[in-house]
Amino acid sequence: MAQDDTSGADLVAADSSHAAPAASPGTAVIAADAFENPGFPPHRPRVTDENPERQKRAQRTVYTLFYLSILGSIWSIAAYMLFPIESNDVGMVRLNNMFFGLGAALALLAIGFGVVHWGKAVMTDVELVDERHPIGGSPETQAAAVQVFQDSDRESGFTRRTAIRNSLIGALLVFPIPALVLFRGFAPQDQLPVPLLSHTMWKKGTRLALDPSGVPIRAADVTIGSAFHVIPEGLQDLEHGKLEEKAKAAVLLMRLNPDELNEREDRKDWSYDGIVAYSKICTHVGCPVALYEQHTHHLLCPCHQSQFDVANHCEVIFGPAARALPQLPIAIDDEGYLVAQSDFTEPVGPSFWERH
Ligand code: FES
Repeated sequence: MAQDDTSGADLVAADSSHAAPAASPGTAVIAADAFENPGFPPHRPRVTDENPERQKRAQRTVYTLFYLSILGSIWSIAAYMLFPIESNDVGMVRLNNMFFGLGAALALLAIGFGVVHWGKAVMTDVELVDERHPIGGSPETQAAAVQVFQDSDRESGFTRRTAIRNSLIGALLVFPIPALVLFRGFAPQDQLPVPLLSHTMWKKGTRLALDPSGVPIRAADVTIGSAFHVIPEGLQDLEHGKLEEKAKAAVLLMRLNPDELNEREDRKDWSYDGIVAYSKICTHVGCPVALYEQHTHHLLCPCHQSQFDVANHCEVIFGPAARALPQLPIAIDDEGYLVAQSDFTEPVGPSFWERH
């Protein structure tokens, strides 16, 4: 018989008023001088302990839940295919998210419920007292620990109840697959990111328009100190790829006092009377740079707090962004509307694509 490390007293299994099923001693031991029972009610056997039919039904429930989890994972993958988000239809995006999420939720919940039900209804139910011991046990205690694992395996039926075990392993293996399918959709499918981000809807003569109304902006309507969220005119009329184009072409337009603008020599003609336009897509990891502080002329990206100085060609003055926001060269047309002189002259968005 194993002995207690500190007292050397023989270790005995905790008393249980219910004799069957047999409990393993393991580390569930009490010393001879254990304190008095504080008055817990006597142990009551579960219905699955006394009724083999109910025990079998509980087992069936457990592996059914695990198989249900597998079905949930498969449904997530199917939903991702059945409701493709490539269609740029917001309704389809919602359906995709909803059905994918329902499948993933079912998969995870079924595993959770299955494991809990397995533990509560199928595994051996005994009450044990576990004494604390110094760290690093004697060989006898270590042998007892090994015994615990063996007994746990025997009592839980992990290796014996193959239907439950295999269905659980199957559910756990299949569950991460929907995540792989989901993440695959984040990557550019068949295009390299640098060329993809080097071309936007902007081209010579495209008017700058308000986001989201699409109304073109006159230079005369932009007062000093103001800032506008801007899209290319015509974006709203696109049948396909509207969101993708907007994600690349979104621009922030600001008007400063021309004396406060410190423009680069080669970009002197990229602004109009203190009006400048910069890509709204953060050069860190692509969040929209949406906050403009009029006093300091600083743009702030709320994602990781990168700051850009509009007065100094949007160079980075704080945060993890690695390069300035790309500038859109602008001018005015015959009717006084702001127009682009060309596309951006460098890729918009995250700069890590360009590192080799
Ligand atoms: S995405 Fe803008 S700071 Fe990270």
